[in-house]
Amino acid sequence: LFYGNKTSTQFLNFTPTLICADNLQTNLNLQTRPMDPTVDGGSKMEQAVNIECRSDFTEKNVSVKLPFTRNKFFQPTEMASQNFVQCWKQLSNPHQEVQNISKAEHPMDIEITKAKIIGFGSVLLEDVDLNPANFMGAGIIHSKPTQTDCLLGLEPNLQTQMYRLTLHTSKDTMSQRLCELLSEQF
Ligand SMILES: *[C@@H]1O[C@H](CO)[C@@H](O)[C@H](O)[C@H]1NC(C)=O
Ligand SMILES: *[C@@H]1O[C@H](CO)[C@@H](O)[C@H](O)[C@H]1NC(C)=O
Repeated sequence: LFYGNKTSTQFLNFTPTLICADNLQTNLNLQTRPMDPTVDGGSKMEQAVNIECRSDFTEKNVSVKLPFTRNKFFQPTEMASQNFVQCWKQLSNPHQEVQNISKAEHPMDIEITKAKIIGFGSVLLEDVDLNPANFMGAGIIHSKPTQTDCLLGLEPNLQTQMYRLTLHTSKDTMSQRLCELLSEQF
């Protein structure tokens, strides 16, 4: 198996896991070599897998769960400050707004935080919030046949080392999912 890191940042704690399907456990013995948990930006790693056949088996299907999430369909959308504020207010029903307040899991670095928000698929809007320490973003998530407007705000609190992440989207399930996906990153 080959794993490529197409980003320019290092992957830390990279631990791929191979699981043999329940119905094949007695037929096959699967062993993987341990890998270095660090994958440098732009590099490729190889993991050798030894498969031993213990008894005859018929099931040959391979299920691969691909790591793509809702935000892969995010299109960054530039917005004027007043439009953002207006849209934020319009998408303020209890289900449209989802919030997560959590402890920072990583150093609260401004540039890295900006890169994470842009990497998530959103545009980073400067001068939208009165507090320049806050990160505001906007984008549209495309799906057939709808488009979902998504706004986000990330408020860091350096003193308490906490973040407050707020998602405003036109679809309640989307607010929830995006909030979960994004809050894992800080
Ligand atoms: C495996 O593939 C066969 C043929 O495509 C299919 O009929 C069967 O349902 C699949 N089994 C599983 C466990 O996905
Ligand atoms: C907030 O996000 C953190 C980090 O992803 C997660 O552990 C926590 O369960 C979330 N809290 C809520 C209320 O969703």
